[in-house]
Amino acid sequence: MDKPRITIFDTTLRDGEQSPGCSMNVQEKLHLAQQLDRLGVDVIEAGFPIASDGDFEAVQRISATVRRPIIAGLARACTGDVDRAWQALQGAAHPRIHVFLATSDIHLKYKLRITREQCLEQARNAVRHAKSLCADVEFSPEDATRTDVPFLCQVVEAVIAAGATTVNIPDTVGYSMPEEYGQLIRTLCEKVAGIDKVTISTHCHNDLGLAVANSLAGVQQGARQVECTINGIGERAGNASLEEIVMAMRVRPDRYRYETAVASEHLYASSQMLAEITRVPVQPNKAIIGRNAFAHEAGIHQDGMLKNPLTYEIMTPQSVGVPDSRLVLGKHSGRHALALRCEQLGHQFERRELDEIYRRFVVLADRIKKVQDSHLLELIQDVSRGAVSPNDVTGQSKKFPPATAPLPFPRAASASAGINANDSHPAQISTNAGQAQARPGVPAPANWFGGAPVTHADHHTEQEDYLWGV
Ligand code: KIV
Ligand code: ZN
Repeated sequence: MDKPRITIFDTTLRDGEQSPGCSMNVQEKLHLAQQLDRLGVDVIEAGFPIASDGDFEAVQRISATVRRPIIAGLARACTGDVDRAWQALQGAAHPRIHVFLATSDIHLKYKLRITREQCLEQARNAVRHAKSLCADVEFSPEDATRTDVPFLCQVVEAVIAAGATTVNIPDTVGYSMPEEYGQLIRTLCEKVAGIDKVTISTHCHNDLGLAVANSLAGVQQGARQVECTINGIGERAGNASLEEIVMAMRVRPDRYRYETAVASEHLYASSQMLAEITRVPVQPNKAIIGRNAFAHEAGIHQDGMLKNPLTYEIMTPQSVGVPDSRLVLGKHSGRHALALRCEQLGHQFERRELDEIYRRFVVLADRIKKVQDSHLLELIQDVSRGAVSPNDVTGQSKKFPPATAPLPFPRAASASAGINANDSHPAQISTNAGQAQARPGVPAPANWFGGAPVTHADHHTEQEDYLWGV
């Protein structure tokens, strides 16, 4: 059975650009629009032409250059805005005028200072005017989720009768909960005459972190267009993130039997391009395209990943265009991952050599958050030259940056070993004789679990790789 097709409406260049620090010039917008085209989005909202000459020109240039997707221009519900949007869209192969007007009582009373009747009339007239210019007209009742539901149904019915082809339901202030938003879409489907002739769209903001969940709930209740942005940028806390929506449907077809035309292997490049243009970095733990989204540091995870990536990855990095899954070497890493990285750097070691490298690596990793390849290469050189680790002598490495914060010795261990809690990590031990020793003048510490001192032999067990990851 065919899966219903979801239209991906990208508003990175309009709503996304409205977020602080994310403004782009015409050339940058054009560049990004071409990338969105490669990505396979169905609609590009290129700007708000009445807002500025720059926005007008961006919509005009994108319309003339990017020919496959629909190009939308935003307009308030008034003749001047609609005309200006239409003017900017003249060269588009597939133009869309997107008209919006707030419908909630809060907005009518405090912002627009109009009555519900005036709102209804204005919406109807603006859509009628837009339709006289362009076959493809979208209408958005701004702040729909805080609008009285019977009034919302009335407005939606009126704009459909006036010629709207898409009706978008914005959760403008990110106030809705998933079941609530889904229910609203369902109510519109059940109560509005003519709703079956138009596409219902979601447009969810992320003020409570629910933009993606709300959008998916809307789709499950009948919405067939999702408005979203790359990296989830947008007003305040942002819009629903395009990459999360697309990958949720791709990774969980058992729950979301829908398809999009997005070529997911271009997601990472699109995200990087946006970050580069706006100079707004992507948060490291951002789902799908964040720097850490496919990074595995904990030993238990690294071990699982090396045995079978299915253990800790629900999608491949390649499927979203991330060049390679990176194993981050840090203090929680195990010997297995270290050996692999050494091999990738062209060094293969026997078990005993690797033990020595591993021991020094743990000392180093305890001092610096992330062990880079250059650090590791230096460490390998030291070990192959038979050099004594600087830490063994002075407790302070000269080569590596200082620790950001000393790791306190585990309480149980320090108690049993009778040493100060601020003393070093148990692995910070000189092992010249293959036997654990403390720094000069300090008794040998117990291991992390308060047991016997750490010995060379302890480092051999597979079990230890597992425990380091806990
Ligand atoms: O959030 C919103 O309500 C909007 C509309 C203009 C669609 O961005
Ligand atoms: Zn918005």
